[in-house]
Amino acid sequence: MSGSEGGAASLHPETRLVHAGTLRSQFGETSEALFLTQGHVYDSAEQCEARFLNKDPGFQYARFSNPTVTMLEQRMAAFEGAEACRATATGMAAVTAAVMGLVRAGDHVVAAQALFGSCRYVVEEHLPRYGVASTLVNGPDIEAWRKAVRPNTKVFFLESPSNPTLEVIDIAAVAAIAKEVGARLVVDNVFATPLFQRPLELGADIVVYSATKHIDGQGRCLGGLLLASEELIQTEIQTYLRQTGPAMSPFNAWVMLKALETLPLRVRRQAQSAAVIADWLAGQEKLSKVIFPGHKNHPQAATIAKQMSGPSTLIAFEVASGKDAAFRLLNAMKLIRISNNLGDAKSLIVHPATTTHQRFTPEVRASMGVTDGMIRLSIGLEHPDDLIADIKQALATV
Ligand SMILES: Cc1ncc(COP(=O)(O)O)c(C=O)c1O
Repeated sequence: MSGSEGGAASLHPETRLVHAGTLRSQFGETSEALFLTQGHVYDSAEQCEARFLNKDPGFQYARFSNPTVTMLEQRMAAFEGAEACRATATGMAAVTAAVMGLVRAGDHVVAAQALFGSCRYVVEEHLPRYGVASTLVNGPDIEAWRKAVRPNTKVFFLESPSNPTLEVIDIAAVAAIAKEVGARLVVDNVFATPLFQRPLELGADIVVYSATKHIDGQGRCLGGLLLASEELIQTEIQTYLRQTGPAMSPFNAWVMLKALETLPLRVRRQAQSAAVIADWLAGQEKLSKVIFPGHKNHPQAATIAKQMSGPSTLIAFEVASGKDAAFRLLNAMKLIRISNNLGDAKSLIVHPATTTHQRFTPEVRASMGVTDGMIRLSIGLEHPDDLIADIKQALATV
């Protein structure tokens, strides 16, 4: 197998997403090969021993690494400008590995309160079971992060923009406080996509993705990605992943690897359509609120201008009359389908209060900004005029 190619930092991101990390077998295939194998054979017991001692480079067992998964990791690292990347079976596996890898019993974590339901579960309920306390703060309030710090604070965790409220947090400002107090900042960059926001350059220590979303982008496979410095991966993450086993399947890695080639085309087009649709929604009187990171009236517009190079493929909006009206709207959709996934080629719509954030009390949901009338819309690759026509006919039922 020949060495990895095409990852030079001087190349444009689009070029790196097509070529970086490619490992060619002796057959010289054009498209990356799918190595659907659990393990690898060794020429001798001595070579096997050396491989386990990391003295002989090569692959051992797919829970540790696999050539197709490695290609995805190398391509993603080149795109993100990270020294290292590890792929996991799901986005939640990447989030959990990042946080669990960094903490020990007795430590403390500070996290933004506006989080995807499962991320909030990990911070608020899972960590305390193992003796790791957590404090949730109002993410955009930078002083709140500082005030929440304790002598044993080891991790800051945030999502920006958040799911589903599209709240944006000043990553550089939070990273500066983390550095000052000796904590590591983990950023879930799913909603921004690697195209529009680069947390490592803003000072984050680890970036995580649900690759299930824009990276696959066509609703086929689950996956997660975790990016950081080689040192951090080696000291805090690698052993956790290897021994606890949330590995990505080679098949899913192959799908994601091929999907990365088209990520900029898809995400730029989806964000352009989202901007058109968000503008149209802003003019609808039945809606009490439209939140879109590309809008000048977004509550954190100044931070967005500073740290994001594009808006989002997601829009959050509120029907003034609450849950029943929101359900009528969802049920009347013809083209846009009800689904809790996002970042797909197909436009998808969901009612967060009864799905992704259903397990929280109404008070907690209110503190996160998830109201009964809130709807999350993920814009796909359809023509925006067709999507507007669908929303228009559905809004007539509200
Ligand atoms: C912000 C965010 N983080 C993490 C996840 C978890 O990803 P996965 O479903 O791939 O585990 C999601 C899924 O919706 C998400 O929206």
